[in-house]
Amino acid sequence: MQTQYWHIHSEQYPDSAAIKEAAAFLRKGKTVAFPTETVYGLGADARSDSAVQRIFDAKGRPPDNPLIVHIADKKQLEQLTPSVSVEAERLIERFWPGPLTLVLPAKPHSVSDKVTAGLATVAVRMPNHPIALALIRASGCPLAAPSANRSGRPSPTAAAHVMDDLQGRIDGVLDGGPCGIGLESTVVECGEHGLTILRPGGISMEQLREVVPEVRLDEALNLHSNSNAVPRSPGMKYAHYAPKGRMIVVAGTSMERVREHIQHELNAAAERGERTGVLAFTEHMNWYEANAVLSYGSMHDPSKATQALYSALREFDAQGIEYIAAEGWPEKGLGLAVMNRLGKAAGGNVIIV
Ligand code: TXA
Ligand code: MG
Repeated sequence: MQTQYWHIHSEQYPDSAAIKEAAAFLRKGKTVAFPTETVYGLGADARSDSAVQRIFDAKGRPPDNPLIVHIADKKQLEQLTPSVSVEAERLIERFWPGPLTLVLPAKPHSVSDKVTAGLATVAVRMPNHPIALALIRASGCPLAAPSANRSGRPSPTAAAHVMDDLQGRIDGVLDGGPCGIGLESTVVECGEHGLTILRPGGISMEQLREVVPEVRLDEALNLHSNSNAVPRSPGMKYAHYAPKGRMIVVAGTSMERVREHIQHELNAAAERGERTGVLAFTEHMNWYEANAVLSYGSMHDPSKATQALYSALREFDAQGIEYIAAEGWPEKGLGLAVMNRLGKAAGGNVIIV
């Protein structure tokens, strides 16, 4: 399959010829990757079984992992769900368009069963990106769109990442430059018993609680709990975001201990003959000796540092790094989502010193 590549110059959107062509692809049941404010998504008409199946095939995604439906206006929401609770409505008013996905009761037959993986709920989000919104509007379809990576790989924050993973497996890519946030949306289940965060992401728990103070965190997300709670977001149970090298995350309140532990592990890996890498805040980059030292950005600007995470994991792969140590983040604000992704990238190998 040939993958059509469209480069969008920012001044052209939202009504460039490229968007019209990409929208025509989607109406024909083809797959098109597009930028959002979080990560690149791989879109297809959410109502079409065969179009949605192409997403699963291209990614190698397990069929029991449901997809998020992307919409451009609230009219489209009415077609997907019969009811929106008062709390959910408040979150919509405050955070849409934006990096917030709501899991709502599904209207039967409004989207393909492959999108919901047969669940009675549907996940919906309105992305805050002019290209994404223009594409959804031009296609006239609600777009099912998971992150545009091969299943298990770090999410793509640039069109080049999408091409690395999916060139020849999808019909097109709209290149709109790098994504602003670099981390996926926060997924919130709007159930009978209130609101529960199933996946931390671009909107922090603190921000959500300013609007609905009772928002809870799914027990399965607690890094420090001993419970064996099974995540209620099907995607959260899979190994994910993983670089090719083995990875460890080291966190703690004393940066001195974090530093010592990381360097100790890097030395041990180097002695085994492995190529080593470290992912650290800019302020700490000269602390470490490793084959590759990459930066999140400044610890004083965490909202920018989220941008660097996934591309750093891909860069370690490009440099053939076999052992990666990452500095952990304080689990507040966006740090909660970052630690969730780091923990998954490291296969749960998180050490608190
Ligand atoms: O920022 C994002 O959310 C990006 C961009 C492209 O919008 N999309 C994204 O999609 O991260 P994906 O497929 O990589 O992750 C979707 C997550 C998975 O953890 C999935 O299990 C969960 O949402 N999900 C989808 N539908 C669900 C449902 N009905 N109930 C519970 N979890 C659901
Ligand atoms: Mg994903």
